[in-house]
Amino acid sequence: MSQKEESVSLETLVSLAKRRGFVFPASGIYGGIFGFYDYGPYGAQMARNLKDAWWDAFVRSVPNIHGLDSAIIQNPKLWEASGHVAGFNDPMVECKECHARHRVDHLVGKEMDNLVDYTSLLKEVKCTVCGKIGQYGEVKTFNMMFKTSIGATEDSESIAYLRPETAGGIFANFDQVLETTRAKLPFGIAQIGKAFRNEISPREFLFRVREFEQMEIEYFVHPEDAEKELENWKQIAWDWLKVVGLNEDNLEWHQHDDAEKAHYAADSWDINYAYPFGSKELWGIANRTDYDLKAHSEGSGKDLTYFDTVKNEHITPYVIEPSIGVSRLILAALHSAYTEEEVKGEKRVVLKLAKGISPVDVAILPLSKKPELQKVAHEIYAKLVSDTDLTVEYDETQSIGKRYRRQDEIGTPKCITVDFETLEDQAVTIRDRDTMEQKRVKVEALTAALQA
Ligand code: GAP
Repeated sequence: MSQKEESVSLETLVSLAKRRGFVFPASGIYGGIFGFYDYGPYGAQMARNLKDAWWDAFVRSVPNIHGLDSAIIQNPKLWEASGHVAGFNDPMVECKECHARHRVDHLVGKEMDNLVDYTSLLKEVKCTVCGKIGQYGEVKTFNMMFKTSIGATEDSESIAYLRPETAGGIFANFDQVLETTRAKLPFGIAQIGKAFRNEISPREFLFRVREFEQMEIEYFVHPEDAEKELENWKQIAWDWLKVVGLNEDNLEWHQHDDAEKAHYAADSWDINYAYPFGSKELWGIANRTDYDLKAHSEGSGKDLTYFDTVKNEHITPYVIEPSIGVSRLILAALHSAYTEEEVKGEKRVVLKLAKGISPVDVAILPLSKKPELQKVAHEIYAKLVSDTDLTVEYDETQSIGKRYRRQDEIGTPKCITVDFETLEDQAVTIRDRDTMEQKRVKVEALTAALQA
């Protein structure tokens, strides 16, 4: 009997992710570094699968969405024009007792329009580090962009920023993509890449980190179509999350109120996911209006309009922006997939990850290390790797039971066992991850059986 746990704890997911090689603390041998994580062999492959699925769905198979890979470091004027230098701020406060710095909206549990409004609320609030109540300094804003400097000297002229979102590079390339692709409205520019935010309080594992990847589309539309296109993208985003295996019961819509909206957005919606620590943003879908193209036009002096042949005039398109972070998607996918079952009185942990998202598609498991079995198993491995695009793993360590258990915990949909009978009947056993059913298949029919 299979029974999906009501709510998997974050500790359980963190522990599985570490134990099975999905996610490690960055520079763990030096005690780690707050807000940064490394992806291990299975996490790196799973992230790649999710990014490939996104790119396939939104770039490769969509004629009017064009891919881009812009530089992480851009001219700092870009972030001045976009409003990030002046407006990409979080309110923060320091505990006078232990000097821990906190995001004040997190501490008080709500966002206020003015910084002074936090002060009275803070009187009742306990420091989450030392436990003192109401001992806080002045509430200040803090810019979240990471600064670096370019060249040999470090002065105000050499300052540059690690991008806080990939979108900036998209807007800066609007005219060149338009020219080189001869795109007509509506059209999109999409990119996947790293973004950096000096978050005051990174937390909840992969949810709020300081270095992460975004998958973003800036979809340029006629201004009068913006609302309709926003609705359209909301539906597309929701549907895609189901394709990559997220449990729909854990998804819900959240519309930003005026206090939450980013400085550039007219209307913003999040698909929230019910993580173990609550329902929080997974994918943001915003109507950024013509804010960015106008701002960059003004900042750069470059004309970033579009010639509308129907109206016979230059217009500044509006932008609908679906933007999702890879690390939050990994966390949500692991959470949706995590299942505990009781099999013959014993607990079985299995990641029921969606097809194509599991880090390993097929594991080849020779029953013993006898050379005659190894030979057949290696041949099968080589054939699957050359004839299919499946990710195949070879494992001959430990007992077969332990190997099944390990593959279940990393979500491998099919295990192939090569046993002594294989030498007689040229057949192998395929074991299904979800049903645990085993069936015998001729080696010559294996590729077709796995791709069915
Ligand atoms: N270009 C729009 C933009 O950056 P955002 O809501 O700030 O909007 C978009 O970020 C997405 O990036 C979020 O929905 C989330 O999935 C991800 N994201 C944002 N900050 C993050 C962080 N500190 N850690 C992990 N993912 C983050």
